Amino acid sequence: MPVYPATPERIAEAGRFLAQAGIVAFPTETVYGLGADATNDLAVAAVFSAKKRPVFNPLIVHVPSLALAERYAQFDARACKLAAAFWPGPFTMVLPRLPGSFISDLATAGLDTVALRVPAHAVAHALMMAARKPIAAPSANRSGHISPTSAQHVEADLGDVLHMILDGGPTEVGLESTIVDATGSHVRLLRPGAVTAEEIEAVIGEPIGRSSDGHNGRPSSPGQLLSHYAPRARLRLNASTREAGDAILAFGPGPLALEPGAVNLSPSGNLLEAAANLFSSLRRLDATGVATIAVMPIPETGLGVAITDRLRRAAAPR
Ligand code: TXA
Ligand code: MG
Repeated sequence: MPVYPATPERIAEAGRFLAQAGIVAFPTETVYGLGADATNDLAVAAVFSAKKRPVFNPLIVHVPSLALAERYAQFDARACKLAAAFWPGPFTMVLPRLPGSFISDLATAGLDTVALRVPAHAVAHALMMAARKPIAAPSANRSGHISPTSAQHVEADLGDVLHMILDGGPTEVGLESTIVDATGSHVRLLRPGAVTAEEIEAVIGEPIGRSSDGHNGRPSSPGQLLSHYAPRARLRLNASTREAGDAILAFGPGPLALEPGAVNLSPSGNLLEAAANLFSSLRRLDATGVATIAVMPIPETGLGVAITDRLRRAAAPR
């Protein structure tokens, strides 16, 4: 049984486990999160694997304070006002990511932005202090299931794949955090939550965009709404040969993996390792200025589904 009462000893143990790339489910005031060290690509890949997410959505990075949040993103005066008003609390801000901030490229899905939140929950806070790491955490449910508001919900959904679920009782808010995009000239609401649009408008003194604005009036979830990181280079998927000027994104052994300059997502063909390396490898090859990246075949099982989904989007004509 992986459910443990969130005693100080268990929280300390969970913090050590997180710092060593383990994944831990923990309570926040909104819903339970499935946490990983946000600076560790492999740990973040394990979160996607446990949730069986078919796509790599960017994750919310949880931090104990505004001061620590400022290590990872650019806060302008408006963002500072919002943080002062709603943190700690059920409020997430998408902000420009600070270059060289060590946040996992997988956690941000390769984007130049990062979603940050300071949760208002004693257990979440103690866990972040114990781990001494920012914690990337989606809701602790299997993909497509509803968000868990108790440790028992987490256990029912993910108990077979988790070592540790910290039980902090039922969550107070019971609804995922409000998410705003504060990267542009106008703040936009990406996901409604306990902090309302009107409260946000009162703090910044101007109207904010609603998620249904601008997209043919259709409400959209943030994961679909974002302009995903797209490499400048063209991608050729399922490549078995190298053509002139190709860079090689390899997976597993095989002749193409031996080509000079090939970047291998996982020489042993491990999908968890490949997921962890995906966005940073794409960036690395793209930065060389090549016209085309030839991508070796990747099996569409387990995390391979999300990897190939992402590669197909990156390969789509623009
Ligand atoms: O209450 C909550 O927010 C819970 C607790 C655990 O903190 N977390 C949560 O995470 O609901 P998740 O992964 O289920 O939802 C996070 C949403 C996703 O829809 C994702 O697309 C969006 O946040 N998101 C994350 N980073 C983003 C970014 N850089 N730009 C736009 N949207 C982003
Ligand atoms: Mg969720």
